[in-house]
Amino acid sequence: MSIDLTESSITAAVQKTFDGSKNARTKEVFTSLVQHLHDFTREVRLTGDEWFTAMDFLVRVGKISSDTRQEYVLLSDILGISVLVDLINHEDSKGSSVTDSTLLGPFYVEGRPAANNGDDISGGVDGIPMFFTSRVVDTHGNPIAGAHVDTWHSDGKGFYDVQQAEKLHNHLAMRALLTTDEDGRFWYRSIAPRYYPVPTDGPCGEILRAADRSPMRPEHIHFWFQAEGYDSLITMLFRADDPYLTSDAVFGAKRALVADFIEHEAGEAAPDGTAVDEPFQTVEWTFVLNPASTAE
Ligand code: BEZ
Ligand code: FE
Repeated sequence: MSIDLTESSITAAVQKTFDGSKNARTKEVFTSLVQHLHDFTREVRLTGDEWFTAMDFLVRVGKISSDTRQEYVLLSDILGISVLVDLINHEDSKGSSVTDSTLLGPFYVEGRPAANNGDDISGGVDGIPMFFTSRVVDTHGNPIAGAHVDTWHSDGKGFYDVQQAEKLHNHLAMRALLTTDEDGRFWYRSIAPRYYPVPTDGPCGEILRAADRSPMRPEHIHFWFQAEGYDSLITMLFRADDPYLTSDAVFGAKRALVADFIEHEAGEAAPDGTAVDEPFQTVEWTFVLNPASTAE
């Protein structure tokens, strides 16, 4: 009955309205969501002012969001939901040789340029040259040819291209879509990234400041692998000696994804034989993909 509801009876009344859901999963998710939201509301004895503040906050998260400003993704990230969803859905590859996944983050851009192996993907942004060399293999170590590899990273000051669109005249930089060769290899030149704060000039920044939380993410390079017959893999590689490795603001750092970002003096040939007349870095990594899951 949906009349004269009380603090305790309202939960079942709302849940009951999902009984006729066309899809069993819709019913399951909303019934549980209502239970937890109501329990939360009762537990903290939410005031009317707090509720209005929360509604206003969500409106502002929506208003600042765009294709290149993903404030809802950031909200999910700083609350640990993004990593929690990833952990729940990759339980099966735990303990296997498959490369760990982690969160996507808000800076992936669909319209990224395609590049050939060996290309400089820095988009002309200045920085310490970085050469990334890699192989993509299956769980038996066999190469995966023709895999699509998205990669993206910040510049040496910790900013992504989309955060400096005006300066870069809307050109995408430090990101590309590559394809593995017949040996499963892909490689590119770019510039070294750096640790950075997640964007704090929007509503999510208010949460971080209110809680006196660090906004810093450790230095990393993003990857998204898509290959026929394999599960797609969204991951990152982190720099071993980064000061923020154990205090990632979005909880995504993993020891299994720590790589050596090796610093070299000028003059030596980079991995692709290029002579570099300034100090440069090299990073090498082998990614292992999981055979496509058959279970739905
Ligand atoms: C990123 O790694 O690009 C990122 C992830 C979560 C929040 C902000 C940035
Ligand atoms: Fe990032």
